[in-house]
Amino acid sequence: MNPVNIAIIGTGVVGSALLNQLLALDNSQFRLIYIARSKHALISKDYSPLKFDLSWESALESTDEKTLPLEALLLYLRKSPLPVIVVDNTSSETIANFYPKFVNAGIAIATPNKKAFSSDLELWNKIFSNGDLVYHESTVGAGLPIISTINDMIRTGDKIEKIEGIFSGTLSYIFNEFSTVTPNSINFSEVVQIAQQLGYTEPDPREDLNGVDVARKVTILSRLAGFNVESPFSFPIQSLIPKPLESIDTTAEFMKKLPDYDDELNKLKEDAFKNNQILRYVGKVDFSKNSISVGIERYDMSHSFASLKGADNVIAITTERYKQPLVIQGAGAGAAVTAAGTLSDIIKLAERL
Ligand SMILES: NC(=O)c1ccc[n+]([C@@H]2O[C@H](COP(=O)([O-])OP(=O)(O)OC[C@H]3O[C@@H](n4cnc5c(N)ncnc54)[C@H](OP(=O)(O)O)[C@@H]3O)[C@@H](O)[C@H]2O)c1
Repeated sequence: MNPVNIAIIGTGVVGSALLNQLLALDNSQFRLIYIARSKHALISKDYSPLKFDLSWESALESTDEKTLPLEALLLYLRKSPLPVIVVDNTSSETIANFYPKFVNAGIAIATPNKKAFSSDLELWNKIFSNGDLVYHESTVGAGLPIISTINDMIRTGDKIEKIEGIFSGTLSYIFNEFSTVTPNSINFSEVVQIAQQLGYTEPDPREDLNGVDVARKVTILSRLAGFNVESPFSFPIQSLIPKPLESIDTTAEFMKKLPDYDDELNKLKEDAFKNNQILRYVGKVDFSKNSISVGIERYDMSHSFASLKGADNVIAITTERYKQPLVIQGAGAGAAVTAAGTLSDIIKLAERL
């Protein structure tokens, strides 16, 4: 592996775990030259690896150096004497929209940020029409080897026929608790409340319940598999937010009124149970039917999705070669696994640069 310069943008939950994992490798070929939060950054002006007296956290805490605007960052990275990998650990749309400029300058990207790959198809095409040094394993299923597996299948000439999976840790937890193989009388709103209290949901659970995060992940998988999906809004998404509650102002008011709408989902659960089935919130891509969808599906209690635990993600990929689907299952969120997915992208990129 040749030495590479690494620019880290974002040191939040995932970014800080990533930095700690990267530094723990103690590999002198990985040279950190830039570490940025939204306002402040550590910048190596002469491109020598950054040095910290105590820790990168305290160095970043005490620096007066301002984060470089993206154009200035590009200019700085273009002059790097070594190949560069930008690691975007934000959820910023602005940074995602800037990827084509990094790519055109020959700069590689590793990122868990979904935005660039699940927005308009035009952005996807701009990113991938000029090389393939953009890796984003952790954008679907956190560190689970989903994207690399699909890419390998396609590169070796296999054809994806169907992808079916549970891609939201939050909705996985909610449905695993709500619709179980043993009878239970818990209401949907009660499970949502518990998930919120456990910190499994976004601060406003509507951001999980609207299904858009799942639709973004399904958009990414569909594009990898060869569907030219225009945007995450170009196929049906079943929202779990009752229509009258969509426009309510506060999260507290939404949570207070959610129990008024329990009947519909309770009935769906009971109907499924009578037929030895459970409910799961699933993303599906079916090439034979030319269809993509996101929403509630029923599965037999013997199906592997019925025994899912906690907030795990699962994907079943049916291909020309895998008539019995290939199944990948495990933690689909969390700092350590997400960071590890991105770190493995960095390593793969460094080996190629
Ligand atoms: N958490 C997970 O389990 C998980 C799983 C899969 C994928 N992801 C994805 O991973 C990404 C990071 O998630 P996270 O949970 O780590 O988010 P987070 O804790 O909110 O951290 C975001 C970081 O980005 C920085 N930032 C935001 N805008 C910036 C800008 N313009 N320039 C420089 N820095 C900027 C923030 O700076 P400040 O510190 O100054 O605020 C913060 O350090 C997201 O795209 C998320 O969807 C997360």
